[in-house]
Amino acid sequence: MDVKTKSLSKVLSVAQEAALEAGKMLLSHLRTDFRVSKKGRIDLVTEMDLKAEKIIVDRIRLDFPDHEILAEEGGKQTGSGPCRWIVDPLDGTTNYANGYRFFCVSIAVEWEGQLSLGVVYDPVTEELFVARKGEGATLNGQPIQVSIEDQLVDSLLCTGFSYDQTEIEKNLELFDRIIFHSRALRRDGSAALDLCYVACGRFDGFWELSLNCWDIAAGRLMVEEAGGRVTAFDGSPCTIYDPELLATNGKIHSKLMKLMKS
Ligand code: IPD
Ligand code: CA
Ligand code: CA
Repeated sequence: MDVKTKSLSKVLSVAQEAALEAGKMLLSHLRTDFRVSKKGRIDLVTEMDLKAEKIIVDRIRLDFPDHEILAEEGGKQTGSGPCRWIVDPLDGTTNYANGYRFFCVSIAVEWEGQLSLGVVYDPVTEELFVARKGEGATLNGQPIQVSIEDQLVDSLLCTGFSYDQTEIEKNLELFDRIIFHSRALRRDGSAALDLCYVACGRFDGFWELSLNCWDIAAGRLMVEEAGGRVTAFDGSPCTIYDPELLATNGKIHSKLMKLMKS
């Protein structure tokens, strides 16, 4: 086993442990009386976002004291070596704050700038999604694949609305156009989990306009490793640091792109 493979396998087990620990903590405090504050007009952060992030960062630091970590609430902690951790301790904060059971923990790792691992844990359903670059994606240990649906009219799609008013207006135009061409269109409120649902074939496609890398890093790898396609809305390549993303099973990708353009 080469150094990279060996290191990443240790990194993956730490990522899984951290996601499970944080996720279980989140579930145990769901619908309890935790503090909620506002980062913006409609952008919330709860006491549990911070607590979950601390659990994850402490767990990473136990084994990897010098790795770089980019976490939503705490920002960037510089480090040395090839790994960068990208952490969303609670994706779906609005849902969580309202006791709506659709949220997750999302952890991804880049190795020398290449997205290499993704772990997403939904503590409500006890579903653990794992993706390894070049090695596929799994759900609770079983390989997953995107759907085979190739007709938009028979597709179940999902989108998300950012906290930015202008972006909401732009996405309403897309929503309005696309809903009439699909079977149904959801807005579930956790981009990381939405992407995992594309990866395992529950959704046929997902898009959003204004995302951060911690929202999508793990989920994006999940879709790609499950055989799907991820691009910008016009089909051009995008990275996890670009705000917009279109993720599908691949078969409806160009049809959805065309609709978005029209
Ligand atoms: C949000 C969720 C939501 C998406 C927003 C994200 P947060 O993340 O993923 O589904 O629409 O754009 O910011 O704030 O719950 O971690
Ligand atoms: Ca998020
Ligand atoms: Ca979050």
